[in-house]
Amino acid sequence: MKEDFRDRIKNLARLLYKSRYLVVFTGAGISTESGLPDFRGPDGVWTRKDKGLPPKPMAKSWEEIEPNSGHLAVLELYKIGKLKFLISQNVDNLHLKSGIPNQLLAELHGNRAKFRCTRCEKTIDRSARQKVCDCGGALVSTVVDFGQPLPQRDLDLAFEHSRKCDLFIVLGSSLVVTPAAEMPVEALRSGAKLIIVNKGETPLDRFASLRFHEKIGEVFPEAVEELKKFMGTQVT
Ligand code: APR
Repeated sequence: MKEDFRDRIKNLARLLYKSRYLVVFTGAGISTESGLPDFRGPDGVWTRKDKGLPPKPMAKSWEEIEPNSGHLAVLELYKIGKLKFLISQNVDNLHLKSGIPNQLLAELHGNRAKFRCTRCEKTIDRSARQKVCDCGGALVSTVVDFGQPLPQRDLDLAFEHSRKCDLFIVLGSSLVVTPAAEMPVEALRSGAKLIIVNKGETPLDRFASLRFHEKIGEVFPEAVEELKKFMGTQVT
């Protein structure tokens, strides 16, 4: 079993090494190891709600929630020049907090740390503690609720990069919410390989070239370290 896992990590590293246009796509499952609940995992917010249970109380305050080894492994891919674009469904601000630059990220469902002006559309950090925009417009949360439109810039960029990539990696998503879940489908349609690292089943499992059911924190940091060894030893 151990050997098989090591082999699969090496295969993931090889696919990362060969990729010329890598897109990573994250869901709530990448933030559970930071102490945040997911939605449809065994203890997820919607799973518990369906059982008439409230969400599990958070052990830490939002300010204390930090990026984990999974977020940092994605950041490492950016630092070594491998990550072309990052698409996230998460509103927890952890990719930006980890150091991912804004222009490399589409936050399809918004970001709880950002407000948007209803008049000039400017986004303002919650930390600015501004009540109204400089233009006088009212500030509203950027978090997208069910049935609301997704931010156009993020949606357009996510589709564009999903169609251009040659490798699309899903980290911690059940892939059941659209239009976000259309991104891996667009990637497959464009001939990209799909890799899924997710503890739960997804509707796209049978299309994945590599499938990990282990925790992201056990898989992705090790695969990125393996990739760096490859890059260090291979003459490009
Ligand atoms: N490692 C790997 N997989 C994990 C981990 C982990 N450490 N923790 C949780 N998972 C898996 C869960 O088993 C689940 O299959 O991550 C998946 C998360 O799926 P969801 O909870 O459905 O989250 P997500 O796919 O991001 O939901 C999409 O739905 O409720 C809306 O707007 C909300 O953005 C959210 C959207």
